[in-house]
Amino acid sequence: MSEKISVLLSEEEVDQRIQKIGELISKDYEGKEIHLICVLKGGVFFMCELAKRITVPVSMDFMAISSYGSDTKSSGVIKIVKDLDDSITGKDVLVVEDIVDSGRTLSYLLEMLKDRKPNSLRLCTLLDKPDRRVVDVDVHYTGFKIPDEFVVGYGLDYAQKYRNLPYIGIVHLEENE
Ligand code: IMP
Ligand code: MG
Repeated sequence: MSEKISVLLSEEEVDQRIQKIGELISKDYEGKEIHLICVLKGGVFFMCELAKRITVPVSMDFMAISSYGSDTKSSGVIKIVKDLDDSITGKDVLVVEDIVDSGRTLSYLLEMLKDRKPNSLRLCTLLDKPDRRVVDVDVHYTGFKIPDEFVVGYGLDYAQKYRNLPYIGIVHLEENE
């Protein structure tokens, strides 16, 4: 099997949308400081681009989690592979994710972060596949709602490849001749 990638969202479309979300977040958090939490590795490209467009003071931290389950289906039970460096207690926390699919990973993660008593806790995702939702997740900022297709680029991978694509592409699997 090999794969072909077709463009779903161009680099320009993604950039323009991130600019818009950055403006919206800057307005919503006026007079406050935002503590951005990036969920590695998928969220890293989006968080960097978003952070550059936020005009209120920003601090950042990173977290790596692994999900128990197969590659294409998350169980929702997550293990912290790398925890945050700093406490989030009393902070206005914005979690930045690449994609919300079933919602299992995010709902588990958000509950865990809530226990650490941030002043506020919101979620910003570049992509959302609403048709796939199994667990309800409160998403405050969404880049794009997309159909139920497996996508790569802008941090998202297929078998660890394609994270570096500057656009969002759909993966098509092909039989080799
Ligand atoms: P959830 O718990 O089902 O919402 O899983 C979310 C995670 O699954 C994301 O953070 C991604 O790592 C991965 N994922 C879901 N859909 C895709 C996709 O279309 N491409 C790449 N990764 C995906
Ligand atoms: Mg992810």
